[in-house]
Amino acid sequence: MDKFIIKGGRPLSGEVEISGAKNAVVAIIPAVILADGPCILENVPQISDVSILLRILYEMGAEVKMLGKNTVRIDATKITEPVVPYEMAKHMRASYYFLGSLLGKFRRARVSMPGGCYLGDRPIDQHLKAFSSLGAECILDHGMIDIRAQSLIGSQIYFDFVTVGATINTMLAAVKSTGLTIIENAAKEPHVVDLANFLNSMGADIMGAGTDVIKIRGVKALKGTTYAVIPDQIEAGTYMVAAAATRGNVLIKNVIPKHLESITAKLAKIGVNVEEFDDSVRISVDGPLVKTNIKTMPHPGFPTDMQPQISALLCLAEGTSIVTDDIFNNRFRYVDQLRRMGADISVDRTVAVIEGVGHFMGAPVTAPDLRAGAALIIAALAANGITEIEDIYHIERGYEEIEQKLRSLGADIVKKSVPGSAVRKVAL
Ligand code: EPZ
Repeated sequence: MDKFIIKGGRPLSGEVEISGAKNAVVAIIPAVILADGPCILENVPQISDVSILLRILYEMGAEVKMLGKNTVRIDATKITEPVVPYEMAKHMRASYYFLGSLLGKFRRARVSMPGGCYLGDRPIDQHLKAFSSLGAECILDHGMIDIRAQSLIGSQIYFDFVTVGATINTMLAAVKSTGLTIIENAAKEPHVVDLANFLNSMGADIMGAGTDVIKIRGVKALKGTTYAVIPDQIEAGTYMVAAAATRGNVLIKNVIPKHLESITAKLAKIGVNVEEFDDSVRISVDGPLVKTNIKTMPHPGFPTDMQPQISALLCLAEGTSIVTDDIFNNRFRYVDQLRRMGADISVDRTVAVIEGVGHFMGAPVTAPDLRAGAALIIAALAANGITEIEDIYHIERGYEEIEQKLRSLGADIVKKSVPGSAVRKVAL
């Protein structure tokens, strides 16, 4: 299992380029199935989630050709079987977007039930409720979700709570249905808007993405298109926090500042300087970092995907900060790893009380999930001494070339391959 070895205490400085958005591209790649011709996707990040999705399409019979490091041509018109192989789908939750796109194209889909995962149980009841509203029959068949519909008829769908995945899956299923679908209480994340823009570039008729009411008028056919994925809001936020935690001075390029508003506002409250330009932000720190309370919310609120990273920063602030994240029911699993580095955090279900300790000590730690792994990197960069981070495959799911990007900012980070089988987890 590979690991990162980081020698902390060096302020990050220089410039870093943000890659395409993971949470947009993991929806756009399955959406290619809906096109009656090939699609070319640009600004696609080289991350393992993308590799797995492209592999799934290839296994299903699509033609997949890399035209460049971040550009891929996909012709999914050769797919005939609306089934995602379990062996492939089990590796990532976002494979459930194939449910919506296969249903939308073939009126049939068969994809493995996504498991619960590192953030707590993650049911898909709202996804299935939406598919049923459109006229589909959904059954669980030996661990596979099997969905079929004679026809898909536009419907009014009201989500019980804001859900990114169900909003996206409903758009995928409804774009080629008959009539008008209205999604109420829709998610407004940048990646929801990016998917809608992608589908509209194929000839879909989607209005209101980015608001809490999305209207989808079904069309008969969707054509192939060329589309560039938006920059990754969470990758950008992660580098903003890393620059602040090391009291560095970093220009973060290829961003959409509007997508970063809630992150910028909280960093400013903590005492971080954020200078905004057209497509970049500069981070620097002059004075002390101060305690700040954070509550994660659906966009445009503070993103849950930035919660572990900002919590690591608050360990370096003066005073006591309260971080509340009840979007998932188990998103503080990284805390015991930060405690190994000297953090003083107590967690009660979805609330963390962070006592600012002012510094971290390097220590061997293990990444429990993607964004928690990013938080451990941030702590390691600020720490006195050396930190070894195991299970970095979590991190490489969502951050393109993170080691190279950090090294170009002056970080002392190396990746060490540890040959042999996966380390047996000790049951504690
Ligand atoms: C997406 O997950 C993102 N993943 C997550 O990012 C992100 O944290 C989350 O949205 C919230 O912004 C991708 O886009 C691939 P939800 P998703 O549906 O769609 C519950 C990362 O680090 N829920 O908005 O699964 C659910 O359990 C990842 O990049 C139901 O109960 O999130 C959760 O508690 C992690 N029933 C809450 O709602 C449902 O049918 C929000 O889930 C659907 C969701």
